[in-house]
Amino acid sequence: MAEYDLIAQSYLKTRQGVLCLPAEIYTFETMAGEIAGQSILELGCGEGFYTRKLKQKGAAKVLGIDLSEQMIELAKKQEAREPLGVEYLVRDALELGQIGGFDIVIATFLLNHAQTKEQLLKMCQSVAVNLKPGGRFMALNHNLELSPEFYPKLEKYGRRQTMRGLREEGTPISVTLFNATEKSTFTDFYLSQATYEWAFQQVGLKEIVWHPLLVSPEDIQKFGQAFWQDLMDYPIFVWIEGVKECQTSV
Ligand SMILES: C[S@@+](CC[C@H](N)C(=O)[O-])C[C@H]1O[C@@H](n2cnc3c(N)ncnc32)[C@H](O)[C@@H]1O
Repeated sequence: MAEYDLIAQSYLKTRQGVLCLPAEIYTFETMAGEIAGQSILELGCGEGFYTRKLKQKGAAKVLGIDLSEQMIELAKKQEAREPLGVEYLVRDALELGQIGGFDIVIATFLLNHAQTKEQLLKMCQSVAVNLKPGGRFMALNHNLELSPEFYPKLEKYGRRQTMRGLREEGTPISVTLFNATEKSTFTDFYLSQATYEWAFQQVGLKEIVWHPLLVSPEDIQKFGQAFWQDLMDYPIFVWIEGVKECQTSV
């Protein structure tokens, strides 16, 4: 049984209430540009928060895959309730193989499930074999450069996390998403930024850019500068972007 099979319902209830979600989405939209007409694969799509958003923005084809049957079940239920044409499959991103040729592959909070550089490389191979040459990969992830001593600064946004040991390759990070009535707890793993860059380069993902989260002028207006200041001062998340080179073997 996959880890998320046990927490699927509580994850759904807590994920969409994480208070820095507007900054995640705004940064993605600023970075991604035009989505309409693109074919998109999401690895580790969970209950489909981003897959639905991408289809609503006019993507031509969106396919979400996840290891957890329960998460895919939740995604399919939402698709049945409000059909958008998003497709879902239960698959392991560690051994996906080629299932298509997409303009864009995204992975939000998936790569930080890799416990070793070998696992990270396998996930990146799954990305690269499913991207068209020149296609883009965008991944939302822990900011690996942020010292764990600053993690408590982020609790005000509904996310508690603790590194369970020294900041070195493979150290587990316990994460709890919480709101007034629910919480969900799962385990991520630390791998260094250098290891991420190595894995991207190994599979032919170039032009790597690390984007800290941006807050839109509207959200600053809506919630106030003070609310966002900790996220700006202690950027806990980053979007990582890479482009698949035109000639590559993966
Ligand atoms: C933190 S959740 C993120 C879900 C969604 N992307 C989001 O942003 O809400 C991580 C997801 O990755 C999935 N996952 C973990 N390891 C995986 C793997 N090897 N292959 C596919 N999915 C995996 C989990 O089942 C879970 O749904």
